[in-house]
Amino acid sequence: MRQGQRDWPVWDVVVRVIHWYFPLAIAFMWWSGGEGLMQWHSWVGYSLLVASLTRILWGFVGSYYARFANFLCSPRAVWHYIRGKPFTGLGHNPLGGWSSVALLLLVTSQATSGLFASDDILFEGPLAYWAGDWSATLGAWHETNWTLLRTLILIHVCAILFYKLVKKQALVQAMITGRAVDRFSSEKPVSSRWALVIAGIASAVLALVVAYAPDSPSYY
Ligand code: HEM
Ligand code: HEM
Repeated sequence: MRQGQRDWPVWDVVVRVIHWYFPLAIAFMWWSGGEGLMQWHSWVGYSLLVASLTRILWGFVGSYYARFANFLCSPRAVWHYIRGKPFTGLGHNPLGGWSSVALLLLVTSQATSGLFASDDILFEGPLAYWAGDWSATLGAWHETNWTLLRTLILIHVCAILFYKLVKKQALVQAMITGRAVDRFSSEKPVSSRWALVIAGIASAVLALVVAYAPDSPSYY
C-alpha cells in the first residue's frame, strides 16, 4: 500500500451482497420454475428484479469500481485484452466489464419478462392480462432468455475457474471479502445506505405496479 492510501475494498458491500444473492436466488428460480411453485417464484423473482435494478443504478452513483464509467472499455481495448495485452487495473478487466453488464441485463430481462408470462394453466405474471397478445411473446422470451442466461452463467463460472487455475488470480476471494493481495482501492466507498434507498424506491414502484395491474376476469 502506498503511503497516504487507505485500504478500501475494490468491491463494496453493495456489489458483493447483490452478487452472491444472484447464484442463490437464481438456483431457487430454476427449481421453483420447474416445480411450478409459482407464488414463491414470483416473490423471489421480484427480489431479483429489485437487486439487478439496484446494481444497475449503483453503476452510475455507487463506489468507484462499481461504476460502469470506470470499467467499461472501448471494443478496441477489449480486442487488445483478448489478444494478450496485460490488464493492470483493479476492477473488472475489459472483457469482464462487458460480461458483467450482459449478466445484469439478462437477469433484469429474465425477471421483467416473467411479469408478463403465463403458464396457460394456473398462474400468470401480474402484467400478463394487461399485456394481452404480447403475453405469449414475452412468455416465450422468458424461456429463451433463460437459455441465454444459463449459458452466460456457465461461461462466467468457467472464466472464473480459468483465472483461478491458469492465471492464479484470487477473484472469488476478492468478491467475498472485497479485496485481495495488491487489490485494494484508494477510493472511499459510497455509503451502502444509498443502495437501500434505491432498492426501497424500486420495490415501492414494483409493488404499486403489481397492486394496480388489471386482474384477468374470474369465470367462477
Ligand atoms: C449464478 C449466477 C451469477 C450471476 C448472475 C453472476 C453475475 C455477476 C456479475 C453481474 C458480476 C459483476 C459484479 C459487479 O460489478 O456487480 C460478477 C462478477 C464476479 N462473479 Fe459472478 N455471477 C454468478 C455466479 C457466480 C459464481 C457461482 C461465482 C464463483 C465461482 C462467481 C464469481 C464471480 C467473481 C469472482 C466476480 C468478479 C470478477 C472480477 O474480479 O472481475 N459468480 N458476477
Ligand atoms: C430472474 C428471475 C427469474 C428467473 C431466473 C426465472 C426462471 C424461470 C424458469 C427456469 C422457468 C421454467 C421455464 C421452463 O420450464 O421452461 C420459469 C417459468 C415461469 N416464470 Fe420465471 N423466472 C424469473 C422471474 C419471474 C417472475 C418475476 C415471474 C412473474 C412474477 C415469473 C413467471 C414465470 C411464469 C409464469 C413461468 C411459466 C412459463 C411457462 O410455463 O411457459 N418468472 N421462470
